[in-house]
This record gives sequence, structure tokens and C-alpha cells, in this order.
Amino acid sequence: MVLPYIEPYKIKMVESIHKSTIEQRKTWIKEAKYNLFKLSSDQVIIDLLTDSGTGAMSDKQWAEMMLGDESYAGSRSFAKLEKTVQDLTGFPYFIPTHQGRAAENVLFSALVKEGDVIPGNSHFDTTKGHIEFRKASAIDCTIEEAFDTSVYHPFKGNIDLRKLEEVFQSNPVEKIPFTLITVTCNSAGGQPISMKNIREVRTLCNQYGIPLYFDSARFAENAYFIKTREKEYEHQSIKAIVKELFAHGDGMTMSAKKDGIVNMGGFIALKDPNIYKECITYNIIYEGFVTYGGMSGRDMGALAQGLQESTEFDYLKSRVDQVHYLGQKLVEFGVPVQQPFGGHAIYLDADKFVPNIAKQEYRAQSLAIELYIMAGIRSVEIGTILADRDPVTRKNRYPKLELVRLAIPRRTYTMSHMDYIAVALKNIYETRHEAKRGYDIKWEAPIMRHFTVELEKLS
Ligand code: F0G
Repeated sequence: MVLPYIEPYKIKMVESIHKSTIEQRKTWIKEAKYNLFKLSSDQVIIDLLTDSGTGAMSDKQWAEMMLGDESYAGSRSFAKLEKTVQDLTGFPYFIPTHQGRAAENVLFSALVKEGDVIPGNSHFDTTKGHIEFRKASAIDCTIEEAFDTSVYHPFKGNIDLRKLEEVFQSNPVEKIPFTLITVTCNSAGGQPISMKNIREVRTLCNQYGIPLYFDSARFAENAYFIKTREKEYEHQSIKAIVKELFAHGDGMTMSAKKDGIVNMGGFIALKDPNIYKECITYNIIYEGFVTYGGMSGRDMGALAQGLQESTEFDYLKSRVDQVHYLGQKLVEFGVPVQQPFGGHAIYLDADKFVPNIAKQEYRAQSLAIELYIMAGIRSVEIGTILADRDPVTRKNRYPKLELVRLAIPRRTYTMSHMDYIAVALKNIYETRHEAKRGYDIKWEAPIMRHFTVELEKLS
């Protein structure tokens, strides 16, 4: 018999989980105005709100914390991180920032002007926010298959080249500062983009003289999918695939809280020395001096080590296998989920899960609340509440997909935690017909309402 695959690590330190009862959770979620962001983490048993900054660092990363050089300028930890990023990505210019959206802020300050258009594959919310804040627009060119949870496509993060070319043809070239590829595509469900598609996008960009940038938060997971789903890459190492991927770009932004496996951090890496020079001025204004950019020396050391670990095949296999183990269990139980499973999360299809609840009563949010009450699992709504209102009509924008994201933190939970989540959802699914009413909004902020929204239960 073939020995089963095991996680390539063992556990050295543990953190207690706070258990609670259904009655306690009913009180807590009511006090939190039915907004899962307002819960204290002690009120949560398994926290799947995000995989961002919630991973477990290795002993080698913790050792780096002790080696951190906290010099204001010219820190050794900066030099270590800079060399790691240069070796990994091939980009010669590196700028640290405190997290991913800070990298977006600095880079877009240099590149994005009012009236610009930035095509890409379902830009992440903060990315879109930074584009729209500058009175520019983000145009989604993701392939249509991404919006049907039951259709199998190995690379649902791919860009539809016809949609992209239409954007190139219908706008003056000087209004398109760059195309942005998000690897993996978070908003489309943690779905990867193929190397073939990246190559084709690059060729099209070259034809029109438009630069190409990457939003790289989950670049290592994307490289894993390229290796395991794109035949010509099956014998290549993850690091070689990563190098090739970035070779197609002019630069990248990174939220290191994901595939950097650190709790806080980010960076920009670039090809062009002139754009680098422009960015460092913004970096000093917004983030800090160029050799720390919002990160302490110890965090830069831990990130350098984290990037080495996240680009190892065995780590990525156990990471993706764990997410897929949960997805597979849910499929066996008949629970409707997006397929193929994403790299960092499983997405529940709330339209199919609780069709009895009216769309206007926030199906996905209702399901996320039920999952919390029944099992203490905190997930996040990726549906109408997140989609916000149309800025002109102030009407709710109903997205194509009404999802609940179960984001799995890196190296944090075990397989028995996955079993617990799967059984909790099975039980809710079996009684789904009893769910008839959802929630109403009592108060909301004018933008990014999902973080602070207050809801009322309808009966
Ligand atoms: N880009 C992508 C694709 C992301 O998923 C995120 C964050 C960011 C940029 C921004 O990075 O948080 O370090 O400022 N995503 C988190 C999530 C918040 O839960 O998916 P950040």
C-alpha cells in the first residue's frame, strides 16, 4: 500500500480554542448586529474569515524574528528580503510596504491618473478601491466560466482575450497605464490563471504597448496549479514556474500576509528604474524609509524565510490538499460549492444552498450567520452586502454569485477541524428548507459597508 501524503511539518506550539454553546453564540451575534466582523475572536471556535495574516510561522521564521536588524536605514533584514525577492521574482527593484493595499497605494500613486482604465481579472476590493479613489476604472475581463459555480475549468482566473482587446481598442492607449493580473484570482474564488493565458495576455499587451503588472498575494498557490494542471510544467520546480510567471510582467504588488506566510507585510517589485524612483518618493510619504517601508526588521527577516517556504512543493501540496479535502467532503454531503476548489478557500453557493431566502434579504450573509450560530465557525459573505450599492442610483448591486467564503489559514488548522466544518455544513444543509427569512440593513457606511454594517433579523 502506498503511504499516504503527510504535512511536511509537525507542531511545536499550540493556541487554545474557545468553545461556546449555541445559546451563547445566538446572544453574541445579536449583540454584534449580525455582523461577523464585530465578533471578538474569543467568541469564535474556527476562524475562516480570512487566510490573510492568520497563518502559522515556522521555527525558522521565528528564529528570524530574533535576528531582525532594526536599523532605520540599511538594515541587514532589508538586504536579506530584497535578495530573496530579486532571486524569486527576477525583478531588480524592491520596495517594502506594510501590507498589500499599501503597495497598491504607492504604485498607483505613480501610475494611475483620473480617467484611466485598468483591465484585469476580477480586481480585489482594495485594488479596485485604490483605482476608483483616483477616479479611474477597473474593468473585469475574466472568462465567463468563472461566474458559473458548476462549470469545471482548470483556470477560472484566466483573462478573456477578446474582452481585453476590446478594452484596448475602445480606449486611447495613454489611458491604459497597465493591465493587472491577480494570481490567484481571489474575487473569482481563489482561481488560478494559466501560464499560457499569461503569455497570451503579455503578447496582446505588447501589441498595444501596454505594461503588465501582477497582484501577487497568492502567487505560489497559482504556481502550484500551473505545475499540477498545465502539462508542460509538470516537471518544473515551483520556483522555476514563479520565475517564469513574473518574467512576463513589468512589476508586482504583494500582500505578504498570504503567500509570504507572515502576519503583516507587503512589497512592490519592479523592472523599470524610473518607476522605482517615482515610487520611493510615495513610499517615504506613506510607508516609511525605503529600507523598511512600514515593516520592522524582524518582520522582513520572517518574510524572507516565509517566501522560501511557501514556494516549496511539499508545503503547497499539503496546503492545497487540505483546502480540497474540505471541498471534497462538502461535495460528498451534497453541499453546493464552487468548483474546481480554490487555492485558499472553499466557496459555498448560497443561491443554491438557501434559495428560499429572498435575494433582498441577503442569502449569503444569512448562511454565514447560521454557520456561526450552529458551529461557531466564522466565514465571510462574498455577496450583495460586499458588492455595496450603485454609487449613482444607491440601489443594491446584486453580484453574479452569492457566496460564503471559507478561507483556510495556512498551517493553522488540522484535518479534524476540516471534518468539523464539513459536518456542521452537512447538518445545516439537511435543514435548509426551514430557513425562510433573512436580514434587513439597519445601518450602513456609504462605502465598504460590509465591515461595519448593522443588520436586523427578519421573522
Ligand atoms: N490583493 C488580493 C488578491 C487580496 O486578496 C488582498 C487581501 C489584497 C490585495 C490586499 O492586501 O490585505 O495585505 O492589504 N485580501 C484579504 C482577504 C484581506 O481576506 O482576502 P492586504
